Amino acid sequence: MAKKTVKDINVKGKKVLIRVDFNVPMKDGVITDENRIVEALPTIKYVLENGGRAIVFSHLGRVKDEADKAKNSLAPVAKRLAEHLNQNVNFVPFTRGAELEAAVNALKDGEVLMFENTRFEDLKGKKESNNDPELGKYWASLGDVFVNDAFGTAHRDAASNVGIAANIGSTVAGFLLEKEINFIGGTLENPARPFVAILGGAKVSDKIEVIQNLLKIADKVLIGGGMAFTFFKAMGYEVGKSLLEVDKVELAKELLEQANGKIELGNDVFTGKAFDPETERNVRAIDQIPTDELGLDIGPNTINIFKSYIENAKTVVWNGPLGVFEFPKFAEGTKSVALTIASIKDRATTIIGGGDSAAAVIQFGLSDGFTHISTGGGASLEYLEGKVLPGIACVDDK
Ligand code: 3PG
Repeated sequence: MAKKTVKDINVKGKKVLIRVDFNVPMKDGVITDENRIVEALPTIKYVLENGGRAIVFSHLGRVKDEADKAKNSLAPVAKRLAEHLNQNVNFVPFTRGAELEAAVNALKDGEVLMFENTRFEDLKGKKESNNDPELGKYWASLGDVFVNDAFGTAHRDAASNVGIAANIGSTVAGFLLEKEINFIGGTLENPARPFVAILGGAKVSDKIEVIQNLLKIADKVLIGGGMAFTFFKAMGYEVGKSLLEVDKVELAKELLEQANGKIELGNDVFTGKAFDPETERNVRAIDQIPTDELGLDIGPNTINIFKSYIENAKTVVWNGPLGVFEFPKFAEGTKSVALTIASIKDRATTIIGGGDSAAAVIQFGLSDGFTHISTGGGASLEYLEGKVLPGIACVDDK
C-alpha cells in the first residue's frame, strides 16, 4: 500500500497518539458490540510491545449538550480496553488541560492512557467535528508521532484525525486502517472477476453514488431491500404500499439505462400487509404486488438468481440488507445471501461494508464466513462511492 504504517516508524520511548474509532453501541453503559475495540488491539499492542507510550482516544456518539456528555463517556470503553490488553489503562476524564498533560508526561514505555470523548470539545463550538485548527494543534502537541487507526471515522474531517496530522511530523496508519484500505480500496482498484456487488437498504437516495461507482467497476450489481421498489416502479411495475421514493424514479430509470443489463433486481418479493413482524408473509411476482401489500424481503426466485451470480464470483462486495432482517419472517433473503457468500469464502474475496449488513451477519452468527467485515458504516459507504476519505488522505505516503 502507498501509505506509511506503524511498522515504518520507531515508536520506542515515543509518545504515540493513537486515534481509534471506539464509537461502539452501548446500552445503559454496557457495550453491546465490541468489534471496533477488538479490531484496534493489534495496533495498540504493537505500540506497547515495541516500547511506545500509547495515548489512545476516540469520539463516542454525538455530543450536543451536558446530558449527551453523561451518556457518552468513554470510561466504560477504557475499562474494557484494559481487560483486553490485560494491563492498566489510565483513563483521564478530560480532553485537554493540566491533568491530561501530566498524565501524558508520566507515561512510561509500554504504558497506555486513554482520554475522554473527543466530541466533548463539540460543546465549545463543534471544535472537534469542525476541525478547529487550535484543537488539532493542541492534541498534536501531546505526542511525538500520530497513528491513525480510526477507519470508521475516516470520512470525517475532524480535529482528532486531520487536525492532528496537519500539526505533527509523522502520521501513519494503524493495522486496522491498513487492512480496510487494502481490502476495500485494493478491491475497488483491482478486483478479481467476476466481481459481484450486492446493494440493499431502504433508500436509493442513500446509495446513488455507490451504485454509480460500482456500475463502473463491478460485473454485476444485485439490488434488493427497500430501494429495489423505486427501480421496479421505474420499470413500470406497481409496488403497492412498498417503500418508494417518487422523486427518484426518474433517476432509477437513468441508472437502469446506464447499467446496460448490469443491474439485477430479481423477479419476486416476500410481502406483508403491514410493517409488522407478525404480518402474514406472501410471495408475489413483481408484476403482481397487490395495492394493499408492501415488499419486505427479496422473494425465493430472486434469492436463487442472486445465488447463481454469487456462486460464480471471485469478488463480492455487499452493502445494505436485502429485507427487513430484524423481523425473522423477512430475514430469509438477507440470510440466504449471507450464507451463499460464506460458502465461497475459500475461493473468493468477500467484503461486507459495515453498518446494517455487518449487523445482520453478526446477528446470523456468520461473521467468520467473510474475508473482511468493515468496521466503517458511513466511511465504508463513502469509500465504495469512490471518494477520497480525509482520514486516509492525511496519512503520510510511503
Ligand atoms: C460511525 O459509527 O459511523 C463512525 O464512528 C462515525 O460516527 P459519526 O457518524 O457520528 O461521525
